[in-house]
Amino acid sequence: MDRYIIKGGNPLVGEVEIGGAKNAALGIIAASIMTDETVTIENLPDVNDTNVLLEAMQGIGVRVMRIDRHTVKINASSVFSHCIEYDYIRKIRASYYLLGALLGKYRHAEVALPGGCKIGSRPIDQHIKGFKALGAKVTLNHGNIITEADQLRSTHLYFDVVSVGATINVMMAAAMSEGTTIMENVAKEPHVVDIANFLNSMGAKIRGAGTNVIRITGVRKLHGTTYSIIPDQIEAGTFMFAAAATRGDVTVLNVIPKHLEATIYKLIELGCEVEEFDDAVRVVSKGNLKPTTVKTLPYTGFPTDMQPQMGVTLSICSGTSIVIESIFENRFKYLDEIKRMGADVQVDGTTATIRGIDHLCGANVNALDLRAGAALCIAGLAAEGTTVVDDIHYIKRGYEKFDEKLRSLGGIIEEVDSERALQKARMRIG
Ligand code: EPZ
Repeated sequence: MDRYIIKGGNPLVGEVEIGGAKNAALGIIAASIMTDETVTIENLPDVNDTNVLLEAMQGIGVRVMRIDRHTVKINASSVFSHCIEYDYIRKIRASYYLLGALLGKYRHAEVALPGGCKIGSRPIDQHIKGFKALGAKVTLNHGNIITEADQLRSTHLYFDVVSVGATINVMMAAAMSEGTTIMENVAKEPHVVDIANFLNSMGAKIRGAGTNVIRITGVRKLHGTTYSIIPDQIEAGTFMFAAAATRGDVTVLNVIPKHLEATIYKLIELGCEVEEFDDAVRVVSKGNLKPTTVKTLPYTGFPTDMQPQMGVTLSICSGTSIVIESIFENRFKYLDEIKRMGADVQVDGTTATIRGIDHLCGANVNALDLRAGAALCIAGLAAEGTTVVDDIHYIKRGYEKFDEKLRSLGGIIEEVDSERALQKARMRIG
């Protein structure tokens, strides 16, 4: 099992280039199946989740041509099946975006029902509600969801829960339906807007993405396009918190500061100096960090995908902080891991009380999910001594060259793939 060994104590200093947004890329890759013409996607992050989704699409006949590490051409004119194998959805939940894309284009899709995951049960009832509102028949057969429709009609839909996935999935199906669909109580995340913009670049007629109401006038056909994915605000925020936790000075390059507003304001509350540029943000953290209270919310609120990175940073602030996780019911498990590094935390349901300590101590910890894994690396970089983070395959799902980028900022972090390599690394980094 691959692991990171990390020696803490070095403030992170320097500049780091941020890649394309994983969560926009997943929807855009799926939506590219909705035309028979060639789609070119640029600024694609080279991470496991996007690569697995491309494989799933190749499995049903989509032609995928890699131009370079961050550019791919996709042509779906030779699709021979509308059924996505369980193995792909087991690897990445976002394969379920193919339900909306295939339903929109072919009026039929069959995708394995995604399970829950480490951060919560993650039902998809709102996706199903949206497909049914468009006139699709949705059935469950041997663990597969089957959506089919003679035709997709317009509807006026109000989501019971603000759901990024349901907003994106239903938006895709509605893009090739008859008539005009109105969706309310939708997610407004930057990647929802990016996927809407991508579909519009293919000839879709989607208005209002990024607001509470999205209007979609269905079209019969979509055409090819060339599209560049927005920067990943969660990757950027992860490095910004790494700067804060290690008392460093880091500038994240190729970002959209507007997407980072909630993160920037929280870092300022912690006592960091934050400087915004057109496509970069600099975070400087000198003295003691101050405690604060944070509640995760749908965009434009503080993102749940930044909650573990925030929690780790709060564990070494001078005072008591409160973290309320309002999106997922089980996203505090990483706190058990940093307790092993000396953190003083108490969890009561969706609320964590974090009493800051002077410093964390290195320990062996496990990455329980993508963002928790990244947060534990931040903990290791800020701690005294050596930390080993296990199960780093979770981190590779959403972060490209994570260890390499941290090393470029002065972080002492190495990937090891055996016990022997681990011992040798321990000797080397001390
Ligand atoms: C997306 O997941 C992201 N994943 C998640 O990022 C992110 O944490 C989440 O949005 C919230 O921002 C991708 O974009 C691939 P939701 P998604 O539907 O779409 C409930 C990462 O680290 N809900 O917005 O699955 C759900 O249980 C990942 O990159 C229903 O009740 O999240 C949750 O409590 C982790 N019924 C809340 O809504 C539904 O039908 C928000 O979930 C759908 C969701």
